[in-house]
Amino acid sequence: MEKLVRFGVAVPENLLVEFDKWIKNKGIPNRSEAIRQLIREFVAEEHWDRETGTVYGAITITYDHHVHDAMGGLTTLQHDFGNIINCSTHVHIDHDHCLEVIVVSGNAKNIKRLVDSLSSMRCVETVSHRITTIL
Ligand code: NI
Repeated sequence: MEKLVRFGVAVPENLLVEFDKWIKNKGIPNRSEAIRQLIREFVAEEHWDRETGTVYGAITITYDHHVHDAMGGLTTLQHDFGNIINCSTHVHIDHDHCLEVIVVSGNAKNIKRLVDSLSSMRCVETVSHRITTIL
């Protein structure tokens, strides 16, 4: 485990009241744990924005499988990004629509490229992603 470092933080009292409410509602054990989680989210977001560093997460897409070559196109794309895709799960939502969750890990730049490539496909109707870090 990484060495833990203590640091003091001064914040306006009303801000701390709101923070403590949020911690209680979330069921987070204490302020230290809450701050660690927020910093991790911040770092992951920074990596994502600057397209640098290793990130982990899931990309969720919905698409219409009737669109010409939808399945073939998505399979080819996922093979092209095979080095950052860990696995994927396919769910048939209804007669026309499919949902796929693609679990990814790797350089933020490459994962962003995959997200953009998915967004540009004609069959794809929605793309969302959730990225995190393990620091
Ligand atoms: Ni399906």
